[in-house]
Amino acid sequence: MYEPTWESISEHKVPKWYDDAKFGIFIHWGIYSVPGWAPTTGELGEVPEEVWFVQNPYAEWYLNSLRIKESPTWKHHVETYGKDFDYYSFLNMWNIDRWDPEEWAELFKKAGAKYVIPTTKHHEGFCLWPSEYTDFCVTKRGPNRDIIGELEKAVRNVGLKFGVYYSGALDWRFTKEPIRRSKDLKIICPHTYYYTDYAYNQFMELIDKYNPDILWNDIGWPDKGKEDLKYLFSYFYNKNPDGLVNDRWEVLHWDFMTAEYKQNYPGEISPHKWEFCRGLGFSFGYNQNEGPEHVLSIEKLVYMLVDVVSRNGNFLLNVGPKADGTIPELQRERLLQLGKWLEKNGEAIYGTRPWIRAAGKTTDGMEIRFTKKDENLFVIFLGVPRSGKVTIESLKVKEGTKICLLGSNTPLDYKQEGENLTVILPEHEESITLILKMNPTPEN
Ligand code: GLC
Repeated sequence: MYEPTWESISEHKVPKWYDDAKFGIFIHWGIYSVPGWAPTTGELGEVPEEVWFVQNPYAEWYLNSLRIKESPTWKHHVETYGKDFDYYSFLNMWNIDRWDPEEWAELFKKAGAKYVIPTTKHHEGFCLWPSEYTDFCVTKRGPNRDIIGELEKAVRNVGLKFGVYYSGALDWRFTKEPIRRSKDLKIICPHTYYYTDYAYNQFMELIDKYNPDILWNDIGWPDKGKEDLKYLFSYFYNKNPDGLVNDRWEVLHWDFMTAEYKQNYPGEISPHKWEFCRGLGFSFGYNQNEGPEHVLSIEKLVYMLVDVVSRNGNFLLNVGPKADGTIPELQRERLLQLGKWLEKNGEAIYGTRPWIRAAGKTTDGMEIRFTKKDENLFVIFLGVPRSGKVTIESLKVKEGTKICLLGSNTPLDYKQEGENLTVILPEHEESITLILKMNPTPEN
C-alpha cells in the first residue's frame, strides 16, 4: 500500500510491462481537429522560440494561435470562417457518427503498439468523456459519445494497455490571453483554487471511470495543488500498482521522463526510463497542410524507434485523426509498415534492455544500435550493408560466440580482427535494417 507521502510514493518502480512495451500510440483528437489547420513551420526544437508560438505548427494549438492577431492561423480563420466565428462553434461541426473505435484498436495492434494514450482534455479545455465537473464535455456538446470510454474498451479488448493524457496546467476556458513565449506558460495558466480542485477531481474521475495504466499529465500542475498530488498518486498506485505517471507535473516524483521532438532527447543511454513522443509530421493534432514531404519515411520511423529503445526509452508515436474519426491515409500506411517491420524484427525490440552502449558504426560509417535480451546482443544496422561482408568497429566477441541473422539459426562466419569484427553476410532480402543476433553478448 502507498501512503500519501512523497517518501512512500517514491518507492514505486517502473513496472516490467512498460519497460518491455517499447512502443505506444498517442492520439490527439479534439475541437482543433475540426479546422485541422496549422502552418508547417518545422519541428519543436528547430524553430526559434519567437517564431514558434506565432507560427505554431501544432494544430492542437489552433485556439492559442487564433488569439494571436495576424498569425497565419488567425489569417486562415478570418478568411475561411470569418472574424466573428468563435472557436468553440467548431463543436457544432464535430460529427463522429462514423467513428469506429474497434477499427482504431485493430490498427494500433497491427502497428505493434502495446499501449494507447488519447487526449482526454487538451489545452482547449473540452473533455472527451462525460465529466460530472463540467458541461463542456463530449456527452453534453458536440460528438455526443463517450470517446474515452468507447476507446478504452476497444483498446483493452485487443489486449493493449490504456493511458490518459490530461492538460493539467493549461485550460484556455479559464485564461483568455494568448501564450506568445515559453515564460507565458507559467503566467497564462489557471491559478485559482477552483481550477486546482477542478483538475484534481477530473483526474480522480478518470482514474475511477477508466482505470488507466498511465497518467500522462501535460505542461505542469497548479502550484496550489502540487502537495495534493501525494493523494492522487497514492490513490492511483493503490488502485493500479502497475500504473505509471510521467514527469510533467513539476513535482519530484515521476516514473518516466518525457522527450518531445528534439526537446530533452538524451545523448546517451538514459539511467532513467524515458519516453519519446512526436507526430509523424510537425503536429500532434490533424493538420490538413501536412503532406508526404512532412511525414517521416518508414526508414526514419524505424531508425527512430531503434535509437530510442537502444537508449532505454519507449516511443509514443502520435496519431492525429480527422474530426470524423478517420485516420489520414499517410498515417495509417506508416503504422502498418512499422507493424510489418516489428512483426519480423520485434525480438530485437520488445522486452530488450540497453546494452553497455547504445551506438556503434561499421568501418563504412553505417550507424549501428545495440539492444540486449538475456545473453543475446542484437546488432541493428540503420541501413542494409551492401557487400557480402561487414566490419563492425570496436566489437570484441567471446570465444565460441554464435552469430546469426535475426530470425535464422544458421551460424555466420566471422573473424575478430583486433578490436573490429568482420561478419560474412549471406544473401538476404532486408530493405530497411539488417539485424544480427550474437550469443553470448560480447565483452565490449
Ligand atoms: C506539448 C504541446 C501539446 C502536446 C504535448 C504532447 O505540451 O503543448 O500540444 O499535446 O506537447 O507531448
